[in-house]
Amino acid sequence: HKHKIVVTRNLGPDVMPLLLNRPEFEVITWPEDSVCDRDWFLKTIPGASGILVMLSEKINPETLDAAGPSLKVVSTMSVGYDHCELDALAQRGVKLGHTPDVLTDAVADLSVMLALMAGRNSKETTGIVQNGQWPNFNWAPFSFCGPQLSSSSFNPTRTAGFIGFGRISQATLARLIPFGFTHCLFTGNPNSSGTSTIAAEIQAKYPSLKGVRRVSLDELAKESDVVFVLAPGGKETYHIVNEGFLRQMKKTAVLVNTSRGTLVDSDALAKALREGWLWGAGIDVVEGEPNVGLDHPLVKEPRCVVLPHIGSATNESRLGMATLAAQNLIAGVLGEPLPAELQLTK
Ligand code: GLV
Ligand code: GLV
Repeated sequence: HKHKIVVTRNLGPDVMPLLLNRPEFEVITWPEDSVCDRDWFLKTIPGASGILVMLSEKINPETLDAAGPSLKVVSTMSVGYDHCELDALAQRGVKLGHTPDVLTDAVADLSVMLALMAGRNSKETTGIVQNGQWPNFNWAPFSFCGPQLSSSSFNPTRTAGFIGFGRISQATLARLIPFGFTHCLFTGNPNSSGTSTIAAEIQAKYPSLKGVRRVSLDELAKESDVVFVLAPGGKETYHIVNEGFLRQMKKTAVLVNTSRGTLVDSDALAKALREGWLWGAGIDVVEGEPNVGLDHPLVKEPRCVVLPHIGSATNESRLGMATLAAQNLIAGVLGEPLPAELQLTK
């Protein structure tokens, strides 16, 4: 008897053989280069031992009941898991694997990129070139200026604020040290290194920082030159960046969201940008994505750079994620410890 495995997207020639070459597995893969059809998925998973999914697949009681009691593991090719109902998995004793660490550097790189793009008016200025308007703009002393990310004699103090202070926030901070950042503020619970000592650990690691503190959201909004939204999605963090938060930000500050769209109230952010409560925003995720067209209030804002959820989209990171997702699946089906298992509390 073979283990039935269902995979909702082709993982490519480097990773699929990890699954296909196992004689004890019967692997069924969604055959198209598009989001897996829900009806196909529900019809295909009964009797499966393991399923490997993308962010687009909802893992809820309907999914788990369709798979039935044979299901041992769900492996998602993502670090985030807000598409999975953890209680439903825990109740049925189904393990959940995800892909932390392998994407940390790629997302941290993109977070810094968006902070730079938002501050330096990249949407307006690349638009001018792309629309053939550069001939109308001679170099002028103060045109297109925005706030500088690096510290300067005019701005010797630079403060990064992190909503959520896990792996990706800490990797983003590491990249900001050479830019001359002097202060680090954060909220939330880091998912590594114990909660009480993290500020002291970070301070010891970066002696050039003049302050590292866990603060309230209000203080973070008021003090930060760049706010990075890097916390998990889900009910607990829904619209954590709302009108009240945005009204307290510095007029020269930028907001970066590279986690989940649900953390930021899009209408409030559009209003804040329109009225100049903050300088600009760089966002890789939008609530309701991918249904984000030209009429979306944030797409229309000239100071809001919007990217189509590409945080982990480097060749290196995606290969690492697909490989780890396959390894999690194999371990779960064989009853071994998963290389990257989410702890589900009942
Ligand atoms: C991407 O958003 C992920 O969670 O990996
Ligand atoms: C700008 O191009 C400069 O030369 O200062």
